Amino acid sequence: MSTQASKLEALMDAQRSERGGTRVIAITSGKGGVGKSTLSANISYVLAAHGFKVGIMDADIGLANLDVMFNVRAERNILHVLKGEAGFEDIVVPIEKNLYLIPGESGDEILKFSDATIVSRFVDESQMLEGLDFLIIDTGAGIGDTIQMFLRAANEVVVVTVPDPAAITDAYAMVKVVSKIKSDLSMVVNQVRSHKEGTKIFDTIKKVASGNIESELNLKMLGSIRSDSHVARSVKQRILVCKELSNIAAAADIEAIAMTLVDKKEHKMLERKKEGGIGTFFKKLLGQF
Ligand SMILES: Nc1ncnc2c1ncn2[C@@H]1O[C@H](COP(=O)(O)OP(=O)(O)O)[C@@H](O)[C@H]1O
Ligand SMILES: [Mg+2]
Repeated sequence: MSTQASKLEALMDAQRSERGGTRVIAITSGKGGVGKSTLSANISYVLAAHGFKVGIMDADIGLANLDVMFNVRAERNILHVLKGEAGFEDIVVPIEKNLYLIPGESGDEILKFSDATIVSRFVDESQMLEGLDFLIIDTGAGIGDTIQMFLRAANEVVVVTVPDPAAITDAYAMVKVVSKIKSDLSMVVNQVRSHKEGTKIFDTIKKVASGNIESELNLKMLGSIRSDSHVARSVKQRILVCKELSNIAAAADIEAIAMTLVDKKEHKMLERKKEGGIGTFFKKLLGQF
């Protein structure tokens, strides 16, 4: 990179940090297969297309598939960085301008790597991603330890569900668990026939939560996404609906969700609550905070 370009980069980073640091958003669910990866990949794309610098981390242990969704190959992941076998620059896959994939298929083992030297090396390595506006984490489903670790380290948790009763029950169970970790929680209802259906499902969950969860919980609806066969086909076609089929209803719904996240980030900034950088996130993740 030329000096000129790197100066520009530094300037951009400084501005970004004035823009409020990195907002870390974990996307999770009670039940699997509800659309976490679809949502994560597409909101990341939309945010990057709007000029934000975005990292998307694949933290769904054993079921990591963001590389497939983005149609790229990821041979090494975050675990190799933790083990000292690779640097961050070796594993991060640039997807588009402003969009970086952090592959991480073996999340479970991450728990073993919290000694101070490793954490500090990791935090140093992660400087490469300093200046991210958003870090979107596609976590697995359910309430395992690793998932909770990611949820704890995130600024914001989004629980995704679909309208079927089993998924709703699991989503509620997830909300209950997350309420012990985070007081701000939002939900996305995916695969709805109408937004009205999404709102109705959210209202039901919220009502049960208010009646049963004692800790203070600010549970909000982030949005709903209409069911669309194009979305189901998009994974096989290795395309992102928000990129290639932005005129379909589901893509518009995801775009609206991404814009709500931008508003929230800006709102946080007005409250002067600056979020930490990526180094802060990894410190939190590995329990050094
Ligand atoms: N709004 C939608 N309409 C139709 N199909 C969808 C929608 N959202 C997700 N899907 C499909 O549901 C399946 C599971 O989605 P995925 O994002 O992989 O879920 P998860 O990451 O939660 O396991 C995929 O085949 C995906 O294409
Ligand atoms: Mg997934």
